[in-house]
Amino acid sequence: MLINIVGTSKVSLVLSKILVEKGFKMGYVVSRSRQRATAFVRKLSQGIPITYDEDFLLKDIVFISVPDGVIDLVYSNIKTRLSDDVNIYHFSGFLTSYIFEDADRFGWGRGSIHPNLSFADEKIALKSIHRCCFGIEGNEKGLSLARNIVQQISNCWIEIPVQAKMAYHLAAVLASNFSVGLAYLAQRLYDLYGLDGFEKIIPTLMLNTSRNVSKLGVKDSLTGPVARGDWVVVEKEQELFEKCFAKYKDLYANMVRVLKEIKGR
Ligand SMILES: NC(=O)c1ccc[n+]([C@@H]2O[C@H](COP(=O)([O-])OP(=O)(O)OC[C@H]3O[C@@H](n4cnc5c(N)ncnc54)[C@H](OP(=O)(O)O)[C@@H]3O)[C@@H](O)[C@H]2O)c1
Repeated sequence: MLINIVGTSKVSLVLSKILVEKGFKMGYVVSRSRQRATAFVRKLSQGIPITYDEDFLLKDIVFISVPDGVIDLVYSNIKTRLSDDVNIYHFSGFLTSYIFEDADRFGWGRGSIHPNLSFADEKIALKSIHRCCFGIEGNEKGLSLARNIVQQISNCWIEIPVQAKMAYHLAAVLASNFSVGLAYLAQRLYDLYGLDGFEKIIPTLMLNTSRNVSKLGVKDSLTGPVARGDWVVVEKEQELFEKCFAKYKDLYANMVRVLKEIKGR
């Protein structure tokens, strides 16, 4: 089957690399810039680089891999270039595939294939993609092919009911992006107090915590002052938090409330 890419993103590059290894063939790579399309094709050693204003017809699989805010715009730019048998996907965790509004009417497969992985670094993403679990959604035709695609990449996926898509994405934001925000505050404390070794200590601690969550579940992974009921420590550290991060001062108290709920206190 042919894979066509619209938008030369890291996500589409990593997924294409794996799928080409599995025997899929590259079709068109559509970009706003011919240079970027050509560079993308060179990395895969196959595909036809083009820009939006050229002549093309996309068949089999189309991955629209552009920022969430412009998926609808890009879709309306290319929808006259889709063949009858096409399956069109995007990678957003937030949007559903109903954004491809004509798909059901034209008998196209539509879907969203969301990798629960950060693509900040292409090499790291390429190494980790085999363990990535996907969230997929779509119409019957799109979902059926999406299952086949994710099966070949990591064989791990969940199927998301349309009405739960935003909650599914919010859960990922809380666990992945918010933990980066917390790491940032931890780093600020190291800087403020002239401590060395942030990169040796905190990422390892975070990795260990995530391993525990995976093995023991959320409730049994909680350690630290709230879990032990060391309320003097909790109070003193709240004072320090409020002194250092006056702007976010409610964050500590709110998080303690969450941790108490976990422990059923
Ligand atoms: N980044 C992640 O870690 C991650 C993880 C999971 C899912 N996703 C999803 O993957 C999709 C792509 O995200 P991304 O972070 O990879 O996006 P991105 O790097 O910001 O952009 C991807 C590509 O979109 C094209 N593009 C950018 N702005 C555009 C515009 N205004 N109009 C048309 N095309 C534009 C560009 O390609 P050209 O210059 O070639 O046109 C760009 O390389 C999103 O739906 C996102 O939710 C991302």
